[in-house]
Amino acid sequence: MEMLRINGLHKRFGDKEVLKGLELAVPEHSVFGFVGKNGAGKTTTMKTVLGLMKQDRGEIFVAGEPVCYGQTKTNRHIGYLPDVPEFYPFMTAPEYLSFCAELSGMDRKTARRRSGELLELVGLAGERHRVRGFSRGMKQRLGLAQALLGEPKLLICDEPTSALDPVGRRELLELLLAVREKTTVVFSTHILSDVERICTDVAFLDGGVVTVQGTLQQVKSAFRTDGHMIEPEGEDGVRTLLALFPKMERKEGMTLVFREGDHPVHEVLKAVSERRLPLVRLERLEPSLEDLFMEVVDG
Ligand SMILES: Nc1ncnc2c1ncn2[C@@H]1O[C@H](COP(=O)(O)OP(=O)(O)O)[C@@H](O)[C@H]1O
Ligand SMILES: [Mg+2]
Repeated sequence: MEMLRINGLHKRFGDKEVLKGLELAVPEHSVFGFVGKNGAGKTTTMKTVLGLMKQDRGEIFVAGEPVCYGQTKTNRHIGYLPDVPEFYPFMTAPEYLSFCAELSGMDRKTARRRSGELLELVGLAGERHRVRGFSRGMKQRLGLAQALLGEPKLLICDEPTSALDPVGRRELLELLLAVREKTTVVFSTHILSDVERICTDVAFLDGGVVTVQGTLQQVKSAFRTDGHMIEPEGEDGVRTLLALFPKMERKEGMTLVFREGDHPVHEVLKAVSERRLPLVRLERLEPSLEDLFMEVVDG
């Protein structure tokens, strides 16, 4: 099932058209990376999904139900972590979570149990300080706990790692991975290595539309280059191969890279086998997600 589906979404601010027919399909149980440069329209898209902003055209479905601007019905399926979560600075983490739980109409006992579990999950269980003194990472983790209070089917996080240091980023990414058993996760980012680290699926937003979308595997293989890397066991092997295949290029150590178009792999393998050259590795070179993104995004 699709947990989120967006059809032909258009949104303009004044004379600036930000979304120009965006299409998105988020499969259930995916960890979905929604990637775009600053100003691409990620936050706009998310606010529209939450019914907080009105689109000019297009339809949105959450867990199969249509989203209507100004109505919150579909939001019962959604947990939302905004890009800059705001808290009452004078509250402690447990006070804040109980407050949110009560606002959502949860009974006291359930609220206490659920808050306890979530504080444990996000590593704030022993935290007695007020939110005022929290680091950005702690605020993001408390925001995540709050977003998960209602056991949402869909968790939407807007650039959850952008303001964090490497340790904070890793902690938050690990939390997103940990919750995917129970909830589909969509997060926006411009950090491609975060996507590569935890996502099952990815979409690139550029020029108001989604230009590339699919599982990480699909996206990578669609853009596969014809590059290969071969590593013979010793210096002799390197010399032999370079003499036979002049377009091979030496990289660090004993590794050589080449393109199928210059030297077909079967010819390289034939030469290796005829000369009985010991090999350590022969691999197809995978482009990184960052390489792909730079290739498909304008300027
Ligand atoms: N309320 C608004 N009024 C006018 N322009 C807006 C508003 N919200 C966003 N924009 C513009 O829309 C574009 C996309 O913004 P946004 O969705 O925040 O991008 P992202 O989250 O990908 O960085 C930006 O150029 C931004 O300036
Ligand atoms: Mg944004």
